[in-house]
Amino acid sequence: MRRPVLAGNWKMNMTNSDAVDFVRAIRRGLNDVKGVERVLCPPFTALATIKELLSATEIGLGAQNMHWEEKGAYTGEIAPTMLKELCQYVILGHSERRAYFGETDEMVNRKIKAALAHALVPIVCVGETEAEYDAGETEQVVSGQVQGCLAGLAAGQVTGLIIAYEPIWAIGTGKAATPGAAGAVIGLTIRGTIARLYDEATAQAVRVQYGGSAKSDNIAEFMAHPDIDGALVGGASLKPDFVDLVRIAAETKGV
Ligand code: PGA
Repeated sequence: MRRPVLAGNWKMNMTNSDAVDFVRAIRRGLNDVKGVERVLCPPFTALATIKELLSATEIGLGAQNMHWEEKGAYTGEIAPTMLKELCQYVILGHSERRAYFGETDEMVNRKIKAALAHALVPIVCVGETEAEYDAGETEQVVSGQVQGCLAGLAAGQVTGLIIAYEPIWAIGTGKAATPGAAGAVIGLTIRGTIARLYDEATAQAVRVQYGGSAKSDNIAEFMAHPDIDGALVGGASLKPDFVDLVRIAAETKGV
């Protein structure tokens, strides 16, 4: 039984004071939704403040990126040891990190290992570009990303990951994938690759989210798919409506 998990990726939005106002507004409603993990991923600058605001709740907190080294001369970077004091999750390999900051599967793999070594739950993002989608390369691209990101991990580590399947053409475009197509990539390609690399039990244990223009009026269809365990939500996580999205997700999974 995989526990559904919904995460809000705020990206580079909200000052510390914006974040305080927003979390105060949604915290009670979000905490009241039971049966699903709900996670907020604000910018680094708001983590410490939001940690305090969430202390009496069951709402999880995550970062949006991390370096793999424990410390050192890496100006501008944030280490797993620093995040460990502030949050429980970390988004790794988001397509924006890959596209604008040159992150590769090999770097994401190092980050995953570092996160796991510090008991942070990685939310590992994979997904094809529009050109790859149009060329019919989704399966090959996503399978390759899964393989590259998971290199050297033991089965027991893989089951502790959250994978987010985010077709890049669906991110921030309002053009979500169809639940059937996303579910097929998640079930056949992502779980299929993990089953081939490890075993069927590992493939069935890992939680996989959908991401890309998920909102309160389409989340039910995604959650109704048996292979989809939640969502990584960008734009729609910046509004109070995120509470409705999470509530609908929980209701749809019947938890
Ligand atoms: P979106 O972003 O929900 O705004 O499409 C999702 C993401 O990038 O994680």
